[in-house]
Amino acid sequence: MNHSAASRAPHWGRDMTGVDLRAATPDDAGAIARIYVDTWRATYAGILPDDALVRMSYDVQARQWRALLQAGDAALVATVAHSNIIGFTGYGPSRSRGLSYSGEVYTLYVAPDHQNHGWGRRLLRGAFRDLSRGGHESAIIWVLGLNPSRFFYERQGGAKVVERDESVWGVREFGYGWPRLAETLS
Ligand SMILES: CC(C)(COP(=O)(O)OP(=O)(O)OC[C@H]1O[C@@H](n2cnc3c(N)ncnc32)[C@H](O)[C@@H]1OP(=O)(O)O)[C@@H](O)C(=O)NCCC(=O)NCCS
Repeated sequence: MNHSAASRAPHWGRDMTGVDLRAATPDDAGAIARIYVDTWRATYAGILPDDALVRMSYDVQARQWRALLQAGDAALVATVAHSNIIGFTGYGPSRSRGLSYSGEVYTLYVAPDHQNHGWGRRLLRGAFRDLSRGGHESAIIWVLGLNPSRFFYERQGGAKVVERDESVWGVREFGYGWPRLAETLS
């Protein structure tokens, strides 16, 4: 897919709680980077090497996110009070060859202080909706086997369909699949 996020998913609307879902823009890169680094440190402590987590940098992540968003990668952000970003998701074509899932959710992170309030579910559904509208009938998400967030994906109807060792640290990863996005979204 790799389409422009701004053109494909401009706005998903606000709910009763005042949280907004909208397409990410390059100007969101700094806020996304902060949540990315903070949630990595909170989530992967004891799972990934400490030095890798300590070395993570807001500035480096912000540059990478800005470049991705400028290149047109699709992402949604959840905002409160009209501007503060509290979560985001990035998605597009599946990067896994040989699997029968055409879409992939690459990232899904909700800031630690805002977890367990339904934003993760809304962001995931927003990503699925955009993938589906972009022609993807199915989707996969890779999650570290030791990350308890994998049970969140089971709660959202995903089934563990494949395992692999991730490429940087060799940690076991599970692939959760949604074979029919249209049914998931109905
Ligand atoms: C995983 C994550 C995105 C979920 O978002 P969230 O906003 O905290 O979750 P929600 O409030 O939307 O939860 C929706 C439902 O899933 C359940 N749930 C959330 N996290 C769960 C978990 N770890 N295990 C089991 N169920 C979980 C909630 O209880 C809720 O259940 P309900 O439908 O009965 O109300 C978020 O917690 C997060 O960013 N975690 C850290 C980073 C991470 O691991 N990201 C995934 C990388 S692959």
